Amino acid sequence: MAEPSFAASSLVTVDDYESAARERLTPTAYDYYRSGADEEHTLRRNREAFSRYEIWYRTLVDVATPRLATTVLGDDVAFPILVAPTAYHRLACAEGERATARGAAAVGTIYCASTLATTTLEDVAVAAPSAPRWFQLYVHKDRAFTARLVARAKAAGYRAIVVTADAPVLGRRLADVRNEFCLPDGMLMANLVEALPPDLRDGAGSELARFFAARHDPSFVWSDLEEIVRQAAPLPVVVKGIVRPDDARKALDHGARAVWVSNHGGRQLDLAPATIDVLGDVARAVGDRCEVYVDGGIRSGTHALVALGLGARAVFVGRPVLWGLAAAGAEGVAGVLELMRDELIRAMQLAGCPDPEATRDDLIRRR
Ligand code: FNR
Ligand code: LAC
Repeated sequence: MAEPSFAASSLVTVDDYESAARERLTPTAYDYYRSGADEEHTLRRNREAFSRYEIWYRTLVDVATPRLATTVLGDDVAFPILVAPTAYHRLACAEGERATARGAAAVGTIYCASTLATTTLEDVAVAAPSAPRWFQLYVHKDRAFTARLVARAKAAGYRAIVVTADAPVLGRRLADVRNEFCLPDGMLMANLVEALPPDLRDGAGSELARFFAARHDPSFVWSDLEEIVRQAAPLPVVVKGIVRPDDARKALDHGARAVWVSNHGGRQLDLAPATIDVLGDVARAVGDRCEVYVDGGIRSGTHALVALGLGARAVFVGRPVLWGLAAAGAEGVAGVLELMRDELIRAMQLAGCPDPEATRDDLIRRR
């Protein structure tokens, strides 16, 4: 199943992929992918925060064959960098989410598909049938519809249900409001066809914001999570969008099997903290009760190393994968993930870490 990876010599950083993607995307689609909420403090913080960390490398450790393979919720991954759920992949390339699924599978990692995909979750599943994949769930006011989404994901062989907790309402992305951002004709929120409000196209500002306001349930609370946990069983539920240690403990108390530190890539509440700054406290709060994941501003394997060192079992990347997808479809997705994997290998070797566990032994300090 391995596909040749896309490794043009001009694409040597994730930022190079972003530049290549920008040339191929419409300005409106680029703005949607890139944007954060409001003044974008949190979008910037997520990435800038990494500059405050130091890696206190160890010397003369045998790092001839670093071991990156690990498991997440029991499933094997070739390296601990996974694909975060992002909406609307057909804006990036015609094949959309199917290409993302194939690209992630080609390099041996997990793709978490979004509720707001432009390809049905069943079509994503058949695009890379043997690879483990997760489904990200948005909870709708129509709870019967929400339960059907969970049942469809189970039937299609997804391995975990990820409930996004940081989006009771949609954050305000100014470019999308100004661009009157909407899906082009012929593209749909494919999983939700039966649930789309008929008048979605009418109105000013962002179509996505109108959709969220009409369909999403801002009254969803911790006790309601237990219902999703029951519906998902035997699949594990992961809560995504946590920045507080007490919320992480609540997630576990209400049946979640893992927590995912995230502020939605700075797209929801502006002035939320940088995720890398809260990861350590969250990891300490849950101890060995569960796996902890993190996303937000991770743009290199060295960033991933810092996150592993602060207690993440694995990291997720959102925008980097969109840049790979827009640059070169499935090959671009595989290419950007391989780039980050190779950066992680080099960073581990230079830091004296033969495996991810070694990163957790007092390697990372904050200035
Ligand atoms: C997202 N994210 C997101 N999260 C989610 O749970 N469901 C979704 O449908 C989406 N959609 C989405 C679209 C786009 C364009 C972006 C950039 C992000 C958030 C995503 O899962 C993840 O938390 C962030 O993208 C991580 O930050 P980085 O890696 O993009 O900095
Ligand atoms: C976003 C939504 C779809 O961040 O999660 O655009």
